[in-house]
Amino acid sequence: MRRYAFAGASGRALSMYARPLRERFGAVSDLVGVFDVNRTRAQLVAEAAGGAPAFDDFDRMLAETRPDAVIVTTIDRHHHEFIIRSLQAGCDAITEKPMTIDAPRCRQILAAERKTGRHVTVTFNYRFAPYATRIRQLINDGEIGRPLSVDFEWFLDTRHGADYFRRWHRQKANSGGLLVHKATHHFDILNWWLDDEPRDVFAFGDRHVYGSAGPRRGRRCSECAHGADCSFFVDLRADPRMAQLYFKAEHEDGYVRDGCVFAEDVDIEDTMSATIRYRSGSLVSYSLIAHAPYEGWRASINGERGRIEAEEFHSGPFADPEVQRIRLVNAGPIVREIDVPRASGGHGGGDERLRQAIFAIPPPPDPLGHTAGSRAGAMSLLVGAAANLSIARGGPIAIADLLRDD
Ligand SMILES: NC(=O)c1ccc[n+]([C@@H]2O[C@H](COP(=O)([O-])OP(=O)(O)OC[C@H]3O[C@@H](n4cnc5c(N)ncnc54)[C@H](O)[C@@H]3O)[C@@H](O)[C@H]2O)c1
Repeated sequence: MRRYAFAGASGRALSMYARPLRERFGAVSDLVGVFDVNRTRAQLVAEAAGGAPAFDDFDRMLAETRPDAVIVTTIDRHHHEFIIRSLQAGCDAITEKPMTIDAPRCRQILAAERKTGRHVTVTFNYRFAPYATRIRQLINDGEIGRPLSVDFEWFLDTRHGADYFRRWHRQKANSGGLLVHKATHHFDILNWWLDDEPRDVFAFGDRHVYGSAGPRRGRRCSECAHGADCSFFVDLRADPRMAQLYFKAEHEDGYVRDGCVFAEDVDIEDTMSATIRYRSGSLVSYSLIAHAPYEGWRASINGERGRIEAEEFHSGPFADPEVQRIRLVNAGPIVREIDVPRASGGHGGGDERLRQAIFAIPPPPDPLGHTAGSRAGAMSLLVGAAANLSIARGGPIAIADLLRDD
């Protein structure tokens, strides 16, 4: 039996950890406490976790419940605080992505892990999706030889993508912007597929649709005079989960879940492009937008002896096929089509496989190295942090410089 406590009673804590751990990992996990600065949400997640006590004091929770590991599911800006305090209290930390939002916080986490000898796990669920796994397997098996370059495009739609502009993510101080908050997933699977670490990053970013780029604005959808003629209008109060988790908890901290996507205080980009050079010399050309008509990603991986082409769609006309196809093109050209049956469950089947890897006792075998620690957490978030610095300063940023203490 392992004892787990939560730092952050978020939507993610509820759906990814509290309920599934209680329902499917009850024999090997004991959920001993839930901390959040918002007591209403802490209470709600605590009930979902099977009646664990809710706390509004993190240190008191650690002292009274003595967890083996803390699951960190707060807003991104605070991840480092709870990771470090957990390690210092003798616990391991299992943190949501991004591990943190910038280089100084990242260095603090790495130093605390070294000093305490405890362990940080970063929950990169996208790696665990069978489709992404198959790509890693093909590269690992040498099917295209040494990877030389990748074109990687991720497009968020005006439903999911717009949601990052309704709440805390919309400020870089909270999330690091989409190049950290969202792209940490993408940079992680690139690092993992290539089995390499990034060396230099150069980026541009702009805001074309949201924030002050929008045509008009209100404070929030639920009280907006423009609701009838705004294509971004949502009625989140009508969703019972949203109502319980956010609207009924709002009186405590003023966390507005349905903020206007055109608010003047949006300071993150919605259109981004980055070039990454890896240690091996491989080059990646990456783009991310948050205003596409439908959602998904495309990747072309060029190796010494062939090319992998893959794509996945999360919404729109091509979403949810029964099989997902990978095209493998070798010299000739010989084209092999590799079909991966669509996996059910969150994030392309990644969520459940990740839970198995982290929470099952004993853990399943991990021949492809799916489970990620702080080094992988750092290597993905630092690409985003470097991209942010590159946008702000111009010019390329070396990842090694971000790891160096001042
Ligand atoms: N891996 C994935 O696919 C995935 C998906 C969704 C979210 N996430 C991650 O999960 C985390 C939570 O995201 P969410 O959208 O569920 O969040 P949310 O907005 O539902 O909740 C955030 C929580 O943080 C709490 N909080 C704010 N300030 C705090 C502080 N100082 N101390 C403690 N708690 C504080 C809030 O009260 C709230 O309960 C984020 O890190 C996010 O990146 C990951």
